[in-house]
Amino acid sequence: MTSIYNCNVIELPKIHNRAGNLTPIHGLIDIPFKISRIYYLYDVPGGETRGGHAHYKLQQLIIAASGSFDVVLDDGRAKKTVTLNRPNFGLLVTPGIWRDLDNFSSGAVLLVLASDVYDEGDYIRDYPSFIDYRENGIF
Ligand code: TYD
Repeated sequence: MTSIYNCNVIELPKIHNRAGNLTPIHGLIDIPFKISRIYYLYDVPGGETRGGHAHYKLQQLIIAASGSFDVVLDDGRAKKTVTLNRPNFGLLVTPGIWRDLDNFSSGAVLLVLASDVYDEGDYIRDYPSFIDYRENGIF
């Protein structure tokens, strides 16, 4: 079972150009998994919180493609808050970690690279069930 200490911020490549910067990301090269899905979250109203779940198997890299927000990670024992605000840094979220997303700046775009297709069966959306899973492996 992974812990919040496995969830590190990864510095991504950045190709500088006076006309703007570019960040390419290769699955299994720049990040430790093959990318199956990309999605992005935007138009988040001020003061709104997202996330509020964990995944059994999914690995994700979360990037602030624009603006900033906080990711609160929780492995059932410890919590840590990571602020993302640069498009060439991504937070690796390993399986079995509860995450809450808040403090979205106006116009923030949260980009997610995910290791698998969408599967509602891979979600734990209830916090007591998450704690049970972390402590007893029940799912
Ligand atoms: P959810 O993962 O709960 O969003 P967040 O963590 O950003 O708060 O997903 C919100 C809704 O979108 C939920 O009804 C499932 C749906 N959804 C998809 O259909 N496909 C996807 O790839 C994702 C991530 C979510």
